[in-house]
Amino acid sequence: MDKNKNEKMEAIVSLAKRRGFIYQGSEVYGGLSGTWDYGPLGVSLKRNIMNLWWKMFVEDREDMYGVDAAILMNQKVWKASGHVDTFTDPLVEDLETKQRFRADHLLKDAGHHVDGLSLDDMTKLIHDHDIKSPNGNRLSDVRTFNMMFKTTVGPVDDESSISYLRPETAQGIFTNYHNVVDSFYPDLPFGLAQQGKAFRNEISPRDFIFRSREFEQMEIEYFIDPATWETEFTKWVSLVHSWTDALGLPAESVHELEVPAADRAHYSKRTIDFEFDFPIGREELLGLAYRTDFDLGNIQREAGKNMEYTVKGTNTKFIPHVIEPSFGVERALMAVLSAAYMEDEVNGEKRVYLKLPEHLAPVKYAVSPLLKNKPELVARAREVYAILKKIHGNVMWDDNGNIGKRYRRQDEIGTPYCVVIDFDSLEDNAVTIRERDTTEQKRVSISDLA
Ligand code: GAP
Repeated sequence: MDKNKNEKMEAIVSLAKRRGFIYQGSEVYGGLSGTWDYGPLGVSLKRNIMNLWWKMFVEDREDMYGVDAAILMNQKVWKASGHVDTFTDPLVEDLETKQRFRADHLLKDAGHHVDGLSLDDMTKLIHDHDIKSPNGNRLSDVRTFNMMFKTTVGPVDDESSISYLRPETAQGIFTNYHNVVDSFYPDLPFGLAQQGKAFRNEISPRDFIFRSREFEQMEIEYFIDPATWETEFTKWVSLVHSWTDALGLPAESVHELEVPAADRAHYSKRTIDFEFDFPIGREELLGLAYRTDFDLGNIQREAGKNMEYTVKGTNTKFIPHVIEPSFGVERALMAVLSAAYMEDEVNGEKRVYLKLPEHLAPVKYAVSPLLKNKPELVARAREVYAILKKIHGNVMWDDNGNIGKRYRRQDEIGTPYCVVIDFDSLEDNAVTIRERDTTEQKRVSISDLA
């Protein structure tokens, strides 16, 4: 990774903390690795992203149904889904410090290709090339590590009380497939959508919120007639691009990676990883998989419940197949911040601003009286603030520091418009609107503002 890219990532992480977007989890106690807390602006940006997704994929469509399942699920779910046996990452240990690392990450960092490598292949590469741990020590052989967080449910701590924090939201959809069909009997194809927390005990969480141990997913299981899977898959490829467009990500920074069979998840017959040019490099933003009838078939077998769909007005029955677009909220947010982070020069001074799409900006308008010690200006500005707040909600009152400082602060948090009430406003009932990207200012009458 070149220095510039590193610097950009560091600048984003530092802005995110300084301006109240994202903080290290449990920071006052020294932190908890792989966890992040959202501050006032971060939670607003995150919700704007999640609401946009919900509107685009659930509310604006006729064929989509929302669900919100419990995070804790019967342990049988994770046995049937294959997660207990196969949801693993390759782990190596520093033989001196006993610190643990992802073997594939160390190999990649050392310039090796890791696609399709078995554990033995990785072990051989590490020993043949004398690859050391980041502490400079020898490494163990590579073994697997299950990433699910295990817990127990209820007062008795035995085998039967084991449960897991869900590593994907998808299973909460599959387990409710039958319920929704019984309540709504939708025509095929139709989809179930869910947003919510997922947990993975990542061996080495890294790169800010990119790889966390607790994160949020937005997933759709789109149930189809198996004969149509290729057409439906293609439709979802273009829907995913509409999503990345709606996030304001430049099309040339979004790439499709056809995942080779050896690297696909155990349930997938075709996967495209949508990658984004993050400051840390080109990495996975979201995934699109053809999950076949793997999950409903497992449920039918393990739970002994019929998962077949009967085509209306016929005797045709089959277990629907599934196309699964799986979106990570944190990665979407990190992509949005990376694409929006800008530096330029205004009046000979360096300026940092977030060129966020208006519909995602945590604050849409900042309203200021030119001087905060002039009651007549403050009163007029409060009126304007109230008008805009009623319409847009996400409007900020900002009278801290001089006007130049306010502009800089609002630029840094991506506020598209600053509205300033000055002495002329008392006479002409107009305000100055200053535009974030161009820094241009224009006069607009208060009655036209709304
Ligand atoms: N249900 C399919 C599934 O979970 P996945 O590729 O393992 O597929 C889907 O995860 C998405 O979830 C990823 O593309 C990414 O956006 C997000 N994601 C996965 N692990 C993550 C982690 N440790 N931290 C942040 N986001 C993660």
